[in-house]
Amino acid sequence: MAEYKPPALPAPFNSTNPAPELLTQGAEGHLYKTFSLDPSIPAALKVRPSKPYRHPILDRRLTRQRIIQEARCLAKLVREGVSVPAVLALDWEGQGGDEAGWGGAWLMMEWIDGPVVRVVLEQWEAWMKKNASSLDAAQLEQENARVKALLRRIGKALGGLHKAGVVHGDLTTSNLMLRLPAEDTEAKASPTGVSTQGEVVLIDFGLASQSVQDEDRAVDLYVLERAIGSTHPRSEPFMEELVHGYRESHRGAISTLKRLEDNPVPLSPPSPMTMTECFLPYG
Ligand SMILES: Nc1ncnc2c1ncn2[C@@H]1O[C@H](COP(=O)(O)OP(=O)(O)OP(=O)(O)O)[C@@H](O)[C@H]1O
Ligand SMILES: [Mg+2]
Repeated sequence: MAEYKPPALPAPFNSTNPAPELLTQGAEGHLYKTFSLDPSIPAALKVRPSKPYRHPILDRRLTRQRIIQEARCLAKLVREGVSVPAVLALDWEGQGGDEAGWGGAWLMMEWIDGPVVRVVLEQWEAWMKKNASSLDAAQLEQENARVKALLRRIGKALGGLHKAGVVHGDLTTSNLMLRLPAEDTEAKASPTGVSTQGEVVLIDFGLASQSVQDEDRAVDLYVLERAIGSTHPRSEPFMEELVHGYRESHRGAISTLKRLEDNPVPLSPPSPMTMTECFLPYG
């Protein structure tokens, strides 16, 4: 199979040394690891290339709207003290790329040094599946307790986001990261070799919207619960911990959880935010 060749990068990333390293290619954007100002300062670069099959004016407008929305969201959340990557730079009219004069839009963010929660839970579950029978009751309890504590922290982080008036719109364990602490003692102490330590950081706000509606908040919780249920079956029984963390996070949580309980399935996702809706009061 031919090796995937991503679209040419917009300036200045088409000439930086070292060149940005492609990490993931999502539905809309490409995520690179690069640096900010100095090669010793790592940064995450999200590039939304233009889509040649879309009408050029519509394409620019949509691409610009999504990247500005994500940047505004992150900037607002940083101000509110929610754990998300800080915005370092942004260009919605990126020059260069494959098309003369239009290289797509890009957003440069603080680099989060740590794994995504999906990988942490997958590694932990894989180890447990193979080796849990070799653990004694106390060890087993300790292992489960670590994952329970992580789920509780995730619930708390999500509650913090909702408290700030934002719903995420695309919550999966791939959109949650753990910021590694300076000294990670857990991986060595656990027979699994997997650490659950670190601050939970929410990422990927391309589909976020501003809402304080219980219904919209309940959708976030519901989608995340479903994502955990389908990708991390061994962690699913501990979901109550996530709910617990969420409940403790802010006063409005009780009515959101009631909404989720009353109406567990047919929740309609919130419509994506338009540029004018999106945090205009915050600049
Ligand atoms: N600030 C960051 N620091 C380190 N790694 C990051 C950062 N942001 C994203 N990543 C990594 O890149 C992956 C993809 O990022 P993200 O989820 O934002 O993009 P996406 O899912 O492709 O986006 P979209 O759905 O908007 O197209 C993440 O799962 C994570 O592994
Ligand atoms: Mg993502």
